[in-house]
Order: sequence, then C-alpha cells, then structure tokens
Amino acid sequence: IPVDPFDLVIFGATGDLARRKILPGLYRRFCDGQMPPEARIIGAARTEQDSAAWRAQVVEAIETFLPASKRDPSGVKAFCERLSYVAVDATGDAGWADLKGEIRDDVVQAFYFSVAPSLFGALAERLHHFNIARQDARIVVEKPFGRDLATARELNATLATHFNETQIYRIDHYLGKETVQNLMAVRFGNTLFEPLWNSQYVDHVQITVAEEVGVGGRGAYYDKSGAMRDMVQNHLMQLLCLTAMEPPARFEPNAVRDEKLKVIRALDPVPPEHIVRGQYKAGAQPSYLQDVENTASRSESFIAMKLHIANWRWNGTPFYLRTGKRLKARKSEIVIHFKETPHSIFDADAGNRANVLSIRLQPDEGIDLRVTIKEPGPGGMRLIDVPLDMSFADALGPEVADVPDAYERLIMDVIRGNQTLFMRGDEVEAAWGWTDPIIAGWEGRGDRPVPYEPGNTGPEEAAILMHRDNRRWREI
Ligand code: BG6
Repeated sequence: IPVDPFDLVIFGATGDLARRKILPGLYRRFCDGQMPPEARIIGAARTEQDSAAWRAQVVEAIETFLPASKRDPSGVKAFCERLSYVAVDATGDAGWADLKGEIRDDVVQAFYFSVAPSLFGALAERLHHFNIARQDARIVVEKPFGRDLATARELNATLATHFNETQIYRIDHYLGKETVQNLMAVRFGNTLFEPLWNSQYVDHVQITVAEEVGVGGRGAYYDKSGAMRDMVQNHLMQLLCLTAMEPPARFEPNAVRDEKLKVIRALDPVPPEHIVRGQYKAGAQPSYLQDVENTASRSESFIAMKLHIANWRWNGTPFYLRTGKRLKARKSEIVIHFKETPHSIFDADAGNRANVLSIRLQPDEGIDLRVTIKEPGPGGMRLIDVPLDMSFADALGPEVADVPDAYERLIMDVIRGNQTLFMRGDEVEAAWGWTDPIIAGWEGRGDRPVPYEPGNTGPEEAAILMHRDNRRWREI
C-alpha cells in the first residue's frame, strides 16, 4: 500500500549511513510500489554540487550496497527522478532559502538528521528560523543518542525547543528487524505462550548479539563507546524490553513504549561479579587495541551480563545478555529457556526435560521451539528433543522471507506517522540512567577488559558466569 505523498529531506545526504542504508532502502520501497508518484527525496549536505551529481552518487550507492537481484536499471533511473539536491550550511545561513523553495506545503514533511548529534541543535534551529518545517513535520534522529544521561537529556532538550515528542522519531534499527516485531506477534497473537511467560515457568532468558566483524574503520568512534554504549544501552535493551514487558492494552505507540519504559525502570543495578568485559586479541586480523590505535584502551568489544528485573513477573528469572565483535559467527537470538518438568514419570535416565523457544533475528530469521517426544522405534520409551522449527524462508517461501531491511520499514513508518517502533525520549533517558552507574562502577574500579581469542565465543569468564548458575550459553 503506498504511503501518503511526502517530501523527505536527508541532511548528511553524502554520508555513510545515507549511502549504505537510507537511499538503498528508499529505492527498494520505490521498487515495491510504496512510494506515490508525488513523493520527493531531497538530499542536503555541505558539498557544493548539483542534483545530477548527487543522483550519480546515489546510483553508485545502490549498485554498491544492493545485490544485483534487488535492483533493475530502469527502476534506478525512475527512482532518481524523485531526487534533488541542495547544498546547505548546517551552522550558517547558506542554502536554507533554496531548501525552503524545494519543500511543498501540502505533503508529509520529514527531515532525516543523518549527521553528528552535535549538529542536531543547529539543524532544528534553522528549520524553525527559516520557517521550513510545518507544525506536524517529522524529524528522524539516529544513535548515538547521547553518551550518558546528561548528554541524552541535553539532546532531548535541544530537540524539544522546536519539536514536540510526537514529531521526533529516534531510530533504533533493531526495532525495524522483522523478527523483533515477530516477537510481539508470537507473544501477543497466540494464547500458547503468554500464560507461561513468567518466572513460574521460565528458568532464564538469553539474549545474544554476536558479530564476526571487528571495529576496524570505526575505531575512533567505537573506542569512546565500547559495547555497553554501542549495543547494550540501545539494541539489547530494546530486545530485553520487548521480551520482558507486560502486554500493552493496544498496539499503539505510547501503549507499547509505556510498557518498555517500565521494564527499564524495574532493572536492578548490576553488581561487578555479574559483568564480563573483553577485548579481542589479534588473530588473522589485528587486535582490538590495534584496530582502535590505542594500546591503553579499556573499552570493551565484548560484554556479558546477568540482569535481574525486579517485578512480579520476573523475580527469580535471570536475563543473560551478551554481545561482542570478532566472535565465531554473526548470530542474534533471544532464547527463552523454560523450566524442567516438575516431575518425570519416565525412567531416571530419561531426565527431566525443558522446552526452549528461540527467536532468531539473524541470519535465517525464524522461530524454533524444542519439544520432547518419544524416539521412534521399538526401543521403549526413550525421549528425545526435536525442533518445531519455523524458518521464515522455509515456511513462507523465499520471496516472502526476503524481508525488508530495518531501515526500509522504519522510514516508511515515519511517513505514516507511526512511532511504535521508535524510542521515546524518556525511554532513552531511562536506559542511560541504568547504564551510567554500571560504567561509572568499572571506570571507578579501574577494571580492564579481559583479552579473548577472535573467532570464538568470547572470554572464558563469560562461560563461567553461566556455569556458576549451572547453566550454559547457547552455541554461537
Ligand atoms: C550498530 C553498531 O548500531 O549496530 C555496530 O554501532 C553494530 O557496532 C551494528 O555492528 C549491528 O547491526 P546489525 O544490524 O548488523 O546487527
């Protein structure tokens, strides 16, 4: 279904995110027929160039970042007809009158701030000053949304000077991933799971976001953040919230976001013995310290934590989170380990059995439930675990399973005016409020991350964190 006609201005139109994600994503939506003929995309950046030059860059970006199977030359040409470019000075006056000339008054207006957060204030101010953005215009901002509670509050206050909360779309691209939304469908679209979704039946939950890549190329940014700020405060926190939240009354932006916020507020502080931080060593590739060109760095490229959500639903059910770079594989999943059967009626060697529900974000998106059955054959009552596995690709066919990239969905939601999959200001602040003391703790103690072998599962200490509780991490 096409969205309403729109003008989408991308500030930072020549930057990395625009080239990698935003423009290829918009092109895909265009090919899918979601963009009405009146939709326009206006690139804005400091570089002095004309629209033709920018269009050529966009074509190059689409060819670089989309596989040939996902583009066709005539489509690219037609898409480019929607594009124009204006050179603007984010911190000066140049170009803003031209930009105003490009914007129409009778379509949805959206402004994507794909620039450093230090420029958010300047852009917001000028959109207002030059009378470009209407009262109902939308602005889209990206992480890093602050680096602690104080800076997040400042950013929120800056944006709030000229825009209402209902106009601000804070992107966490994990919320745009297909399976993340499926988590809500599974929980709240079936009667099967929700009655069991609590500490009475759930032994523990594991959330893993493992990456094969290192930080090479992004060292300067990454080393100031570490995995806690780069991944946990935002992406893993969002996964945790959607897994642990109470059922919202409606699938509406504030109903969902209220419930997520309650989870963050219910998180207990994390004691140091429940945290493992690591840095990858050199292997075939350089070490973390070489990648960030800082031999004294104490930032972590791996973190594992045990969390406790202090509320009625989850008291007694630990949530184990882990994320890291240069691990064995790219694999992200949320795994619900149910409790063992209270009593086994079978032979002692059959053991007590436990169901495991895993929700795979990437790769091979899907859902898998391990159930116990009798091993077929005449061998007596022998029990085995088998997967009730639903790979979306297998179940729905490759075309349906060819799911849109997170950015494609999220940008279309901006145009539709649906904030459900975007973070509200208070959520971001609450997440930093929880993160800050943890980081202050290890900085105050002078803790150093432990080195770990690349291409594996991270530091041994992370395994020990689980062993102490008689549990094991899932295979990466
Ligand atoms: C980004 C982080 O937000 O997410 C990166 O800054 C990380 O460090 C990336 O690699 C992971 O995203 P995805 O979609 O590849 O899992």
